[in-house]
Amino acid sequence: MSKENIFPDRDQFVSRREKENVIKQKGLVIWFTGLSGSGKSTLATGLEKRLNSEGFLTEVLDGDKVRNGLNNNLGFSSDDRIENIRRIAEVSKLFCNCGVVTISAFISPTVEIRQMAREIIENKDFFEVYVSTPIEVCEQRDIKGLYKKAREGVIKDFTGVSAPYEAPLKPNIDMNTAGKTVEECVEEIYAEVIKKVSF
Ligand code: ADX
Repeated sequence: MSKENIFPDRDQFVSRREKENVIKQKGLVIWFTGLSGSGKSTLATGLEKRLNSEGFLTEVLDGDKVRNGLNNNLGFSSDDRIENIRRIAEVSKLFCNCGVVTISAFISPTVEIRQMAREIIENKDFFEVYVSTPIEVCEQRDIKGLYKKAREGVIKDFTGVSAPYEAPLKPNIDMNTAGKTVEECVEEIYAEVIKKVSF
């Protein structure tokens, strides 16, 4: 039997538009990039709560969730980071194509890696938020104690210390969290996102 007979034709699937009609919202991937400790996951969960309180269906993907599950066989070499982001972009796209407002928060350290994510997800569905908190502030916060370990050489290839981070050139939003409350940052992002996901 040929493959054509096993798998349904594309037009037998319920379309994205039909799914968006059910939940009365438009799919979008909000892609947070920035250093470790910059506030990506905090803003991602804050944004999710804000959207949820307005009746939007959302999903947050972040390092803690994905690197402990789907990507638990990957480390922090350049190749592993590429594979990490490739899989995350593919998963983000699946959620987005169901109409879910998908919030993905990963260091995604290079222009090339984010370009790959943008191409997988498609430009029109990719909304980039650069959490531009300076490294001095991230390091001062050092919530997980990882900067200290990176400086001591206990952790190798640590982004911003011993591995590169390239800032996005034209993000949709450049969010420096230093001197702002989480609520203020979330509100700024929410104001832009709501225009794109409203039905
Ligand atoms: S990415 O570079 O592949 O996009 P990702 O966002 O998934 O990284 O994971 C980053 C998180 O992993 C950091 O916030 C930190 O908690 C942890 N981590 C452990 N080792 C490293 C490392 N060498 N470089 C960066 N982050 C690391």
